[in-house]
Amino acid sequence: MGVLNGGGDCPGLNAVIRAVVRKGIDRYGHAIVGYRDGWRGPLENSFEDLTIESTRGILPRGGTILGTSRTNPFSREGGAETIRDNLRSLNVDALIAIGGEDTLGAAAKLHADHDLPIVGVPKTIDNDLGGTDMTFGFDTAVHVATQAIDRLHTTAESHNRVMVVEVMGRHAGWIALHSGLAGGADVILVPERPFDIEEVCRLIQRRHARGRFFSIVVVAEGATPVEGTMEVMTGAEDEFGHARLGGIGQRLEREIEGRTGYETRATVLGHTQRGGTPTAFDRVLATRLGVAAIDAVEERRWGAMAALKGAAIELVPLSDAVAELRTVPESEYEVAETFFG
Ligand code: F6P
Repeated sequence: MGVLNGGGDCPGLNAVIRAVVRKGIDRYGHAIVGYRDGWRGPLENSFEDLTIESTRGILPRGGTILGTSRTNPFSREGGAETIRDNLRSLNVDALIAIGGEDTLGAAAKLHADHDLPIVGVPKTIDNDLGGTDMTFGFDTAVHVATQAIDRLHTTAESHNRVMVVEVMGRHAGWIALHSGLAGGADVILVPERPFDIEEVCRLIQRRHARGRFFSIVVVAEGATPVEGTMEVMTGAEDEFGHARLGGIGQRLEREIEGRTGYETRATVLGHTQRGGTPTAFDRVLATRLGVAAIDAVEERRWGAMAALKGAAIELVPLSDAVAELRTVPESEYEVAETFFG
């Protein structure tokens, strides 16, 4: 059988790979290949043999031993047929695809339209996949962001500054919401709710009026202003048509300082949220998902995805992961709003 991971890397990927290899070989007697760099692996037959020995010691390691990419198999002519031929050439009878909306979207299509034997494992630090209550990597990202907010707090207070902290979160504000709540942010801005810059400034000014001369604003990279109220930038697109984000933090820095006169600084946490060792929670979740995925292979549950449902790991249709993004509900944002300003 084969395993691949695609899209952005995510703390916990190696824990999934280790679990698949350990149970796949020890319990089920598979030979396992790891495809390199997401869908590029089976498209170009780029792989390595995975053994219990070669996956030893990877549990606490961030990143992925397989490498990753945002290759879209459907943006290549005859991509699905090439993958089928390449799987056959290695006698690969099953494929575990670990990924987010794009990788699993391609997996769902390869299974549904081309009958490929695929089982999915959900992955993204953004925590925005459907079909599962949480994705591994999210907890680590929230820890990193919370620690950064705690550190920014003390320097903000010393200098009487507004600190804008830009965190990841393309379509969903989970990282912003949870790190902002945990770090005691004074304003949290998420993609689900376009913000009014005047309201942001009003909240900060209210804090000043109450004698708190510093503020922390946490903003998800995908947050946008109410149309026509502030200029924003977008970057080049990847193979799945997503623009490169980043920049809202700096825009807010200028707007807040310009409108309030308070000294403001922006910090972009960027890929520090994705790098480094996974938390214990993410290691455990990733391991449980890996074990469930290899069990699903054994049961030939093609088109299924291992998912966290409440406290249990269950199998759901792969298509559930991408049918609808899991965004921050209004009620959860309202909890955070209690502490604004
Ligand atoms: O994997 C999700 C994510 O971390 C998003 O939060 C972010 O927008 C994107 O990946 C960044 O992608 P890249 O690593 O390609 O810059």
